[in-house]
Amino acid sequence: MTAEVINGKELAQELRQNMKEEVKKLNEGGINPHLSVILVGNNPASRSYVKGKEKASAEVGIQSELIELEDSITEDYLLEVIEELNQNPSVHGILVQLPLPEHIEEQHVIEAIAPEKDVDGFHPVNIGRMMTGQDTFLPCTPFGIIKMLQSKNISIEGKHVVVVGRSNIVGKPVGQLLLNEHATVTYCHSRTKDLMKYTQSADIIIAAVGKANFIGEEHVKNGAVVIDVGINRLNDGSLTGDVDFDAAKGKASFITPVPKGVGPMTITMLLYNTIKAAKGLS
Ligand code: GUN
Repeated sequence: MTAEVINGKELAQELRQNMKEEVKKLNEGGINPHLSVILVGNNPASRSYVKGKEKASAEVGIQSELIELEDSITEDYLLEVIEELNQNPSVHGILVQLPLPEHIEEQHVIEAIAPEKDVDGFHPVNIGRMMTGQDTFLPCTPFGIIKMLQSKNISIEGKHVVVVGRSNIVGKPVGQLLLNEHATVTYCHSRTKDLMKYTQSADIIIAAVGKANFIGEEHVKNGAVVIDVGINRLNDGSLTGDVDFDAAKGKASFITPVPKGVGPMTITMLLYNTIKAAKGLS
């Protein structure tokens, strides 16, 4: 079997076209969706992600503002900046790019963002709403993955999904969203013994471990769907996922590439959440 490649870039473009129309309508009604992005320090990968978010916002007509802060700022100062944005009615979405410098407690920062402006969907209030299946801001990468599966009419109900990775940003929430869609979900991680035992019975594998080529052909059941969330930079500067794409492609029914896979969908769902925030829904 040779897998069909799910092109996240194309799907993202399609969705962004619809969002552009939606923003235009909001503008006509006097609402100008606005996203404030905070970048602390000079991590090159973070800077590049933030630039991507700004560019995509502009593409659909969302106003974005980048607030750049020095590495050396105190946690209290960052919390004050967030509070000002919380109070500013023209700001609809707030995103603090992670990771933060070590002297700043990430959880304090996440919890300082008003839940109704938390377009990342990281605030415990929004995570709780997601877990209980309420309408809320869904974390962007997991939300993008659901959209990718739906775009190919891949059914989730009753399927065995194996999530490899348990980060708060991707692994845990994607498993929860798939559970909400009636999948049977198994979480695996770096300390799982005999990983293959689980992945070989998976109808859908979500690879989110952050290790290049961690999932090989031997992990994949014939006809499985393979979603690769990894973005790993190799020594030669190229990007690669957590999945050995060429090997897995020979066994899977659908597979996502890196780049042009999950990455563009993450940013697209951030735009979706920002528009949702501007409409006053949370
Ligand atoms: N760092 C890596 N991914 C993300 C994300 O989705 N949101 C934020 N705020 N920081 C990140």
